[in-house]
Amino acid sequence: MNELILVLDFGGEYKELIARSVRGHSVYSEIRQGGISASEVKRLSPIGIILTGGPSSVYSPDSPRCDKELFSLGIPVLGICYGMQMMCQMLGGEVRRGERGEYGVVSAELSTGSALFKGIPKNSAVLMSHTDRVNKLPDGFAAIGKTDTCENAACENAGAKLYGVQFHPETGHTEHGREAIKNFLYNICGASGDYKLDDYIDKQINSIRQKVNGEKVLLALSGGVDSAVCAALLSKAIPGQLTCIFVDHGFMRQNEGDEIEAVFSKRKLRFIRVNAKDRFLSKIKGVSDPESKRKIIGGEFIRVFEEESAKLKNIPFLAQGTIYPDIVESGGKHGATIKSHHNVGGLPKNLAFTGVIEPLSSLFKDEVRVLGKKLGLPQTLVNRQPFPGPGLAIRVMGEVTAEKLEILRGADAILREELDGMKRKPDQYFTVLTDTRTVGVKGDDRTYDSVIAVRAVLTGDFMTCDYAPLPHKILGRISSRITSEMPSVSRVVYDITSKPPATVEWE
Ligand code: XMP
Repeated sequence: MNELILVLDFGGEYKELIARSVRGHSVYSEIRQGGISASEVKRLSPIGIILTGGPSSVYSPDSPRCDKELFSLGIPVLGICYGMQMMCQMLGGEVRRGERGEYGVVSAELSTGSALFKGIPKNSAVLMSHTDRVNKLPDGFAAIGKTDTCENAACENAGAKLYGVQFHPETGHTEHGREAIKNFLYNICGASGDYKLDDYIDKQINSIRQKVNGEKVLLALSGGVDSAVCAALLSKAIPGQLTCIFVDHGFMRQNEGDEIEAVFSKRKLRFIRVNAKDRFLSKIKGVSDPESKRKIIGGEFIRVFEEESAKLKNIPFLAQGTIYPDIVESGGKHGATIKSHHNVGGLPKNLAFTGVIEPLSSLFKDEVRVLGKKLGLPQTLVNRQPFPGPGLAIRVMGEVTAEKLEILRGADAILREELDGMKRKPDQYFTVLTDTRTVGVKGDDRTYDSVIAVRAVLTGDFMTCDYAPLPHKILGRISSRITSEMPSVSRVVYDITSKPPATVEWE
């Protein structure tokens, strides 16, 4: 068992960032509901607890609270933003609404004599995002940080190992936030840093072997990072017992299906590629509504998977590439939730399997990528950008045909060739075949042809994004290559919309 830091969730948007930054310091972390009981915490025996921020005000009657007993277990606690306010109020301090809120990066003066800020410059920039503030500290607490508008920007009761910060050390905007978290883990919680991904592989291999006990396992490969890493791990753990079904719906990008086949047919597993291109195309013939296309493709994916898995006998286990954020976001009980959103559609719960294996369910995406590299998967697969389950079918606007898919594939390949090598690449980029035709001129001929839209975005979480300010020179080259290499494209446009109000995908 690794040493554990519990991150207790009070609704803050940064809970995953906190848990990930703890793991970045080689300490294992898990996110739990803020209201978890002290007895459950004792059972889990963490070396430290972090209380997240959240949107509530401590003085509103229905604001979330932790179990007060947590503060007297002798386990170090770090309250962040709302977490600090709640801790201070519950221990007899006072929280007030400030005259003005404090939002953005501000300069703070920190007491470097505190174990929390050891080795950090006295004056440093911190990210603030609050209106309420701790007005009066509880007995036994002292201020260890202040800003121009916030007297108690950080506090401690070192004897009781209770610490609070009004700012957000987990974000990159807080200059020395990483060090403050590291100090909490190593100086205050006494962590030894025993969480390593190398050990993770060995531990999982053992636990998969134990659970499977010589039986067979089936996995639906989508070509995405999670299912690919899951397959690589399983093929190492139980070579000869794993069957992977890759349903090629025909909406993958250029050569993508073949690349997936090339990677996995080399591994010790049984790889079944179902070429269902025509079946999927005929199902969405004449359909132009985006939601209908998604639903039809998702439903058809399930039917193909069911048909194929029914042909296989004696496979009691289903493996899924569920990752930790899937579990946290679905609000499910830890470890007990079966992923309901699959890459395509969602596999139904009534498939005839006696057990489900989810070997990545405690990992964040970046950890899954690291694991994939350690397991020898190629960079192209491990660093793959997000790709929607319905694939290019929702990047061809309106009705999808084989001809339109070919145009889009060609344009998309050109875009990727131009951007893949960039030093600071956008986080996601692709082309869309619009359903508009425009007049053009090629040689002496007047044309009336397709419009390709280029989408390239900067984002961390894909919940919001900015369009990428690609250099005009590169945009010009992309445009001239697409229009000259793709005979049926007469125009290329660049999407300069952020999300919101637009989404990343066009459909
Ligand atoms: P939107 O268009 O909602 O996309 O702003 C946000 C991110 O999600 C990806 N995306 C999908 N991923 N199945 C997926 O696995 C889907 O149906 C799907 N639709 C959108 C999109 O590419 C972007 O990264």
